[in-house]
Amino acid sequence: MGQKATERIFEIEAEATVEVEAGENVAGLEELRVKWLGRKSELTGILRGIAGLEPAERGLVGGSANKVREKLEATLEARIAELSAAELETSLSTDSIDVTLPGSPVRAVGHLHPITRTRRLIEDVMIGLGYQVMEGPEVEHDFYNFTALNHPDDHPARMLQDTFYVEPGGGAPAEVGKQDVLLRTHTSPMQVRAMEAAPPPLFMIVPGKTYRRDSDATHSPMFHQVEGLAVAEGITLADLKGTLLAMLREIFGPDREIRMRPHFFPFTEPSVEFDVSCFKCGGTGQLGKGDRCNLCKGIGWIELGGAGMVDPNVFGFVRDAGYDPDSVTGFAFGFGIERIAMLRHGVGDLRLFFDNDVRLLEQFS
Ligand code: PHE
Repeated sequence: MGQKATERIFEIEAEATVEVEAGENVAGLEELRVKWLGRKSELTGILRGIAGLEPAERGLVGGSANKVREKLEATLEARIAELSAAELETSLSTDSIDVTLPGSPVRAVGHLHPITRTRRLIEDVMIGLGYQVMEGPEVEHDFYNFTALNHPDDHPARMLQDTFYVEPGGGAPAEVGKQDVLLRTHTSPMQVRAMEAAPPPLFMIVPGKTYRRDSDATHSPMFHQVEGLAVAEGITLADLKGTLLAMLREIFGPDREIRMRPHFFPFTEPSVEFDVSCFKCGGTGQLGKGDRCNLCKGIGWIELGGAGMVDPNVFGFVRDAGYDPDSVTGFAFGFGIERIAMLRHGVGDLRLFFDNDVRLLEQFS
């Protein structure tokens, strides 16, 4: 009896091992575990029957059965580990999701706003000329927006009609201009902030939002400007002209010319306005057979912005930061990003940029 049981145990081992090694998936192997090692399995039955054996045979049968049980368990575990690694491998390679596939239904791809694209174009050009790009606060102190830019107390730009004040004062006309906090009316306050922050030489541009009480086809209460400032020893108006020419040729084409006309700004001396030659008529003012160019209105020039040599009085506010008006000179310029975008894309009304009508915006992809 004991002899037969031992033989049977080794037969079980051989049969079960063949089946386990041939098992092809984890679920199938769990079934084999039940079949060969479960409560109702033959091996378990033999172990339970040990008590009924001759005492002399108990040790041998019990020992063999337990050894075989352990071996089978180890074989099962090894095969399961092997198969689950392979199963994980195939599920990783077949179940992967390609997040770059278009959605269903396919959605139109978005794109940057034309103002953002124009701003980035200007930044790229100026970075290429060695300028750093800075940002500044849109809510600004009167000091930076006006006072340190050499605006007298009664300058008209300080009037409530032109400037949005964040903390309006008493309202009496005599008080206007003394209010502290406002929405910056131009990016020029960053001239002073940039000079306070770092000594010369300084070459920087500041793109950003600006605010004025204005609204028509070419003005919006919120608009964008780019400020430029270059300060070092020996900078001249010729450097300003060369810089504007290089910048505007990158934006409007290599054949463009520029011109500067005398103007006035409180913070530059001398001050100019600068124009670029019209890229539609090539600066002639005429289209085809004598028709007046509708872009430059027959003038041949397109007005773009203001500029000039930094007024020594402005340096006076940052003298302690290293800007001695007797040793450094500089130029500054400023212009509107919307105006450049309107010209580049032939958009006639600036307000269209902010209506957020996708029928318009879609055209600039
Ligand atoms: N800040 C001026 C404006 O908004 C433009 C300007 C900038 C003029 C720098 C001179 C120098 O009109």
